[in-house]
Amino acid sequence: MNILILGSGGREHSLAWAIKQNPKCDNIFVAPGNAGIAQIAKCISVDILNATQIVNTVKEYNIDFVLIGPEAPLAEGVSDILKREGILTLGPSKASSQLETSKKFTKEICDASGAPTAEYRSFDSLEPALAYVETKGAPLVVKADGLAAGKGVIVATDIEMAISAVHEIFSGSFGNAGASVVIEEFMEGEEASLFVLVDGETILPIGTAQDHKRVGDGDTGLNTGGMGAYSPAPILNEEVLKKTVERIIRPTMREMVRRGMPFTGVLYAGLMIKESDPRLVEYNVRFGDPECQVLMMRLGGQILDALLSTAKGKLSDVKINWANDHSITVVMASNGYPGSYETGTEIVGLANLPSDSNFMCFHAGTVEKNGKVLANGGRVLNITARAETLIKAQKNAYEMIETIDWSEGFYRKDIGWRAL
Ligand code: AMP
Ligand code: GLY
Repeated sequence: MNILILGSGGREHSLAWAIKQNPKCDNIFVAPGNAGIAQIAKCISVDILNATQIVNTVKEYNIDFVLIGPEAPLAEGVSDILKREGILTLGPSKASSQLETSKKFTKEICDASGAPTAEYRSFDSLEPALAYVETKGAPLVVKADGLAAGKGVIVATDIEMAISAVHEIFSGSFGNAGASVVIEEFMEGEEASLFVLVDGETILPIGTAQDHKRVGDGDTGLNTGGMGAYSPAPILNEEVLKKTVERIIRPTMREMVRRGMPFTGVLYAGLMIKESDPRLVEYNVRFGDPECQVLMMRLGGQILDALLSTAKGKLSDVKINWANDHSITVVMASNGYPGSYETGTEIVGLANLPSDSNFMCFHAGTVEKNGKVLANGGRVLNITARAETLIKAQKNAYEMIETIDWSEGFYRKDIGWRAL
């Protein structure tokens, strides 16, 4: 079959790589892709927010299955339009994507379904929000309601910080995403993520991971899209996983069905775990990036069968074959990220990396020009390794980095520290 993946990050590179291992996959197309993806798939220049362009691409290349990587097309309703055209598509509807696109919506779903999460209030105007901050006191977590590229959440350690966060959100700096604010109790514990496939009813866990959101070693500095990840996350053991599905995900999915917006796709639950009890931090309605890279490294080609069955509503037929392995990914980013950075810097040495499925370099922001690979974004490469232990995978990933010559880039030296 011919498969089209929408996106251009390390997530989409790893998806293309895993899907390609499945004998059902004949041709793989990625829109718009990057320099690494171009080595294993045909990259096509399509605006992934423009459903008409995507439908035309599907016709032109006889695409049988479309997989939507990032949240932006889901928020635009691209999945609904493709499905209406009769195209087999994996990606939730615009309505059910509110689990990611509106924090207020998710909180209301938690209230209705009893899923444990931080206590909260939401506000549409400044004064009552400020009054609430004053009565609650710090620490508090202040969130813009909508999608804000990871910048809309402020963990306020003192009251002044909370007040300035509320002002900032209502000042319009997040556009529409800041029309409402959610103010939450600060939850203590350890964070981890659970990934499940859902076809409306059936819920299939496909892996656990831990991200490293802060830019600096020891979890210091600014928040980023993610500087590295590993899978599995030991804190999300069998017991916690079961509790997460039964207490959080299943009630949420039932409530979505009750509201007439059943969820179909990849659901990513960000959790805070304390004394083996999980509470929901947030949902995302897609694979995480870089979490996807470590999941694909472990799942390989079987992910295609699982994704196809999800899209067809036949998830109950699927069983995941687990290997007893560990994977890790270290993000290499342009100096300055998550602030401003230079693009067009040359990355040397990629050809010397081992060519082995236990050692992968997934590209994110890269382009190829005159035979050279140039950095073209904030997060640029995902150096990924798989081994029988996490410590070995970590050692292999950092050894791979040694062979890369890119002085305009940096990476965290401690990915995996929590589990090791
Ligand atoms: P979110 O975008 O909602 O996942 O928030 C980004 C990050 O902020 C999370 O990964 C947590 O580290 C932190 N965070 C969000 N909400 C809370 C909360 N209620 N308590 C503690 N930390 C939180
Ligand atoms: N790595 C966090 C995310 O994809 O949202």
